[in-house]
Amino acid sequence: MFNIKLNKLFQSIIISGGLSLALTANAVTELKVAFNQSDKHPQYKALQYLSENLSEQTDGRYNLNIYPNELLGAQRASLELVQNGAIQMAIVANPLVENYDKTFSVIGLPYIYSSLEHQEKVFTGNILDELFSSTKKFGFEVLGVYTAGARSIYTKKSPVNSIADLKGLKIRVMQSDTMTKMLSCMGGTGVPMNQGEVYTAIQQGVLDGAENNEITYMDLKQYEVAPYYSRTKHLMVPDLLVVSEQFLSSMSPDDQAILKNLVKDSINKEYQLWREQVVVAEQFAKDKGAEFVEVDIKPFQDSCKNLQSELINNDSQKSLYNTIISLN
Ligand code: GCU
Repeated sequence: MFNIKLNKLFQSIIISGGLSLALTANAVTELKVAFNQSDKHPQYKALQYLSENLSEQTDGRYNLNIYPNELLGAQRASLELVQNGAIQMAIVANPLVENYDKTFSVIGLPYIYSSLEHQEKVFTGNILDELFSSTKKFGFEVLGVYTAGARSIYTKKSPVNSIADLKGLKIRVMQSDTMTKMLSCMGGTGVPMNQGEVYTAIQQGVLDGAENNEITYMDLKQYEVAPYYSRTKHLMVPDLLVVSEQFLSSMSPDDQAILKNLVKDSINKEYQLWREQVVVAEQFAKDKGAEFVEVDIKPFQDSCKNLQSELINNDSQKSLYNTIISLN
């Protein structure tokens, strides 16, 4: 009797005594993952890493099919696709999930993380596990959270050094109330919009600028239309990996545990990739003519304090906020 491993589709072909042939085929489940940025992005690479490990640890039964560049729709639409089980996973920015449960606003408050290291402690520990599984009732769960660095304001005509400089400027924000309020307390006017529409809106003068991290700024060539990148570093927004509840509950408990562990591992990987790529992105944008301006962030931090108190108004939000701050 001998075993031949044909490929991951076929578990085994067993020929005994040359008389009988038993062929067992194992179906591969491809998980569709919506992603709104390019295949060069650290999160895309972390998802690929996750896919390889998942395939390996489940003997080829599961892998990820990642659709970059909003191919499966912008984040709000892709979250709905996950929710109704049409696709299995998506990466969506925290403000989108905050529209379902306001507790999420705590982990995306302006200036809540003092550094990437502080945020890493929060995202790689287990303090967010309870919050993340609490969204089951909406048809999705949050499997984990990737970093997207620190976001700053960038503009078309001149740099932003102060709250006064933002007065009268229309700045694109992600789609949530908190984001619009945040921009108001920083002195400007927030315009909620999908990321994919921002370049043209700035180019056509519908917007005066936007706010994002250096990698997205570079990847989407936004330096071409808004060359002044002013380091307000007002947000370190979590990017959440969401999974359809319908799909997750179709997995065996063992496979669910494998998936959840591998997601944690991919978060560490993404931090490492982020640190490498952010330096390259900034240099690339500079070489293309972007100007990076250092800003005194204290006035912006102070002006956002009211928003913090407005958004932390029940016990679970307070306790989450205090735990995050204690890890600083
Ligand atoms: C960042 C973030 C994305 C988000 C985007 C945006 O790139 O990583 O998740 O969609 O900003 O501003 O919309």
